[in-house]
Amino acid sequence: MTRFTVNDRPVQYRMDPDTPLLWALRDASNLTGVKYGCGTGDCGACTVDIDGEAVRSCQVSIAQTEGRFVTTIEALSPDRGHPVQQAFAADNVSQCGYCIPGMVMAASVLLRRNNDPSDEEIDAAIINICRCGIYPRLRGAIQRAGRIMRGEEQVAAAPPPGITPEEAARAVPALRKP
Ligand code: FES
Ligand code: FES
Repeated sequence: MTRFTVNDRPVQYRMDPDTPLLWALRDASNLTGVKYGCGTGDCGACTVDIDGEAVRSCQVSIAQTEGRFVTTIEALSPDRGHPVQQAFAADNVSQCGYCIPGMVMAASVLLRRNNDPSDEEIDAAIINICRCGIYPRLRGAIQRAGRIMRGEEQVAAAPPPGITPEEAARAVPALRKP
């Protein structure tokens, strides 16, 4: 049995310890914002935050996650109002949307360290693949998110549609608080 924290809730997975974190999150915890793209660590669609690092969840097992703190897109913000989410909505970054949760998680990790990144720093940090080619809008939105974080800009956009962490965990007793 492996134990760690997902979206501020303690979880125990009775699964093969070699199970990729991606599949535990999606199949056992119903956190389907974590996307499966390549399964080989290349695309970044499965990116989650583990202890403040952007990690491809298809490349770490649940055994390797023991004792760590995992945050998925469902819990990045209680109201989907994280500056990155606000900026992505304001700039209409999403096309098909499949890569977006991973992009948002990677961008949030970047901006926590550097809230005024250059285009070059964004390109170096966000190596996720988008088959729709949103990269120009992506850079602009990350820079807008930085301005929001620095208090230089406010966005009045409504929160993008989605589900709350509570809704995501609705059918998953292991994710409910005692
Ligand atoms: S599914 Fe994990 S990097 Fe592509
Ligand atoms: S928006 Fe379609 S894969 Fe990125």
